[in-house]
Amino acid sequence: MTPAKAAAGTAWADLVRTLVQAGAVPEGWARPLSAVPRYQFLPDVMWPQDPVTGENVVADRRRKADGWMRWACSDAPITTQWDDGEHRGTAPGHLPTSSSSMPSMVMAMLGSLSVADGMKILEVGTGTGWSAGLLAERLGDRQVVSVEVDAQVAQAARDCLAAAGRHPTVVTVDGEMGWAAAAPYDRIIATVAARAIPPAWLAQLSPGGVLVVPWGTHFGRQDALARLVTNGDGTAAGRFTGPASFMQLRAQRLPWPTHGDYVPVDWPGDAQRSTTGLARVALFGGQYSTAEFAVGLRVPDCAYTIASGGADGTDVVWLYGLTDQSWAAVFYCVDGCSEFEVYQSGPRRLWHEVEAAFDWWERIGRPDHAEFGLTVTPDAHQIWLHTPEHPVRALPRQDGLVDSGVPVADS
Ligand SMILES: C[S@@+](CC[C@H](N)C(=O)[O-])C[C@H]1O[C@@H](n2cnc3c(N)ncnc32)[C@H](O)[C@@H]1O
Repeated sequence: MTPAKAAAGTAWADLVRTLVQAGAVPEGWARPLSAVPRYQFLPDVMWPQDPVTGENVVADRRRKADGWMRWACSDAPITTQWDDGEHRGTAPGHLPTSSSSMPSMVMAMLGSLSVADGMKILEVGTGTGWSAGLLAERLGDRQVVSVEVDAQVAQAARDCLAAAGRHPTVVTVDGEMGWAAAAPYDRIIATVAARAIPPAWLAQLSPGGVLVVPWGTHFGRQDALARLVTNGDGTAAGRFTGPASFMQLRAQRLPWPTHGDYVPVDWPGDAQRSTTGLARVALFGGQYSTAEFAVGLRVPDCAYTIASGGADGTDVVWLYGLTDQSWAAVFYCVDGCSEFEVYQSGPRRLWHEVEAAFDWWERIGRPDHAEFGLTVTPDAHQIWLHTPEHPVRALPRQDGLVDSGVPVADS
């Protein structure tokens, strides 16, 4: 064995030990995790997410092999493709479109799947092939089918799997269709997020089968991991198990609103002005904000972005209506402010809807992701709190005609 190989083995064993000690490795997964190291599945150039800055950095094995291996053997998510493969060069691209998730998240998802010997599994989103390799190691190659929409990504995964001595079936296909040829499955795991659960997945699960999938709304980037059990009649229900942050199924990505289609050049135009005391950090509180997830459940067809650091350090939260031209802007000044200026325009008062949803979440005791659940039928997705008897419905739209703010022109 070369010194580099030995060092890689040690680094991987260290990570496995750390995860086991942290209780992040579910029963039955320590052996596959040790036997199938993630570094066997990663490309020479990759973009790990720095846990301190949250930014993607480049790791190039050809230039700095030991640095590359440190990232591969860390509990960090690693982007492996940008912009559906259109991106060139080693600098990070625009949109991450394939990645290797944090090993602790992969373990959490596999734990939620509750696999047992002899089960047949469909994975949607092959990516690097690492989770397909773990599943194949645990259950056997013949029990695992993995589908990937991107032909190049799928081929790279097949190559890595073969080099690692695993041969699950990897199919290049749009995973929203599942893979009927090998159905029914006992378990389906989507390692890519859904906004709507594709009916084919439920149709291809055996009655009592389990679907694990990151699910969320278009409001923000805060998804939750759903663990749904099928009834065998095209319906399924279950709780969320915790927060998750994933790239979305290709066809379910939000076409990002164009700012200029909403906000007039003669800013702020006919916008109505008011103020808010809702602190930015309370709602847009960083990774895994439950408030953000919960607000998204009640404010449908709305997306937000944050434009950071104007000349005076003010951050602006922009909200856009996805079914009309409503918009809102909240100006978060840096220090010493407890009231923030709000501008709203269009048929909806998006900020008032967000505030109402946030108030509701606080009033009911700030429940976290795992207190919500989801029921999927052929016609609808219904979110609930604690039990299906307590549905969480979209708030009534706050009408721009009955706004409580002051028209800017009058102020
Ligand atoms: C987070 S990565 C999956 C990580 C993977 N399980 C691993 O072990 O590396 C998500 C993958 O889903 C794929 N994907 C996106 N939309 C898809 C679709 N409609 N059908 C199948 N795969 C899709 C992406 O191309 C990407 O490779």
